[in-house]
Amino acid sequence: MIVTIDGPAGAGKSTIAKGVANRLGFAFLDTGAMYRCVTLAALEAGADFQDATSLHAIATDCQIEFSFDKVWLNQQDVTQAIRTPQVTKHIRFVADHPGIRSWLNQQQRRIAADRDIVTEGRDQGTEVFPEAECKVFLTASIEERARRRQRQLAQSGTEIPLQQLIAEQNERDRGDQQRQMGRLQPAPDAQLLFTDGMTPEQVIQQICHWAADR
Ligand code: DC
Repeated sequence: MIVTIDGPAGAGKSTIAKGVANRLGFAFLDTGAMYRCVTLAALEAGADFQDATSLHAIATDCQIEFSFDKVWLNQQDVTQAIRTPQVTKHIRFVADHPGIRSWLNQQQRRIAADRDIVTEGRDQGTEVFPEAECKVFLTASIEERARRRQRQLAQSGTEIPLQQLIAEQNERDRGDQQRQMGRLQPAPDAQLLFTDGMTPEQVIQQICHWAADR
């Protein structure tokens, strides 16, 4: 069975998808981490992000693996390195590239083949797994998403004003909603879940309940 969880940045998809996967005993796939790996590889190669051909060549050379709760790029542990602001800033060149999206979509289908999996991203229910049995579109208000991000950053010692985080989230949402391929939008058959005022446990329980119904 495939459970897809899509939604905007800061909606808590990773925490929720991991929680649902643990509860159901399914594998878990963080597709945003794959876009981050390609971006990191391009930064490390000193790539010209405007050069679509070399960006594509870098992407298809990336060997991305998930094991022991870590993300591996060409046998290197990049779990932390893919989360830097520099990677986040450059990611749109990779996410907007149709050739790289097609290639990553193939990798995602290969990882999910013949297993029960919870997969999260922007286009999992729409483009990558249109046949998935259980699809969820997870969202929350822009203020709530920015507040969650602010709390997360504070835990690692970084204080950022809420207004700045709201502006950054709006910018990312716009980019994610406007891209030609794999744009952020709910699949027609997705269940919408607006999580303001819900605890992570309540969200996990709701999704597990929907998955059990299928
Ligand atoms: O979920 P995240 O913030 O780690 O994702 C990083 C970026 O990758 C995000 O800006 C959008 C892009 N992305 C995408 O285009 N398609 C996906 N399936 C997952 C992520």
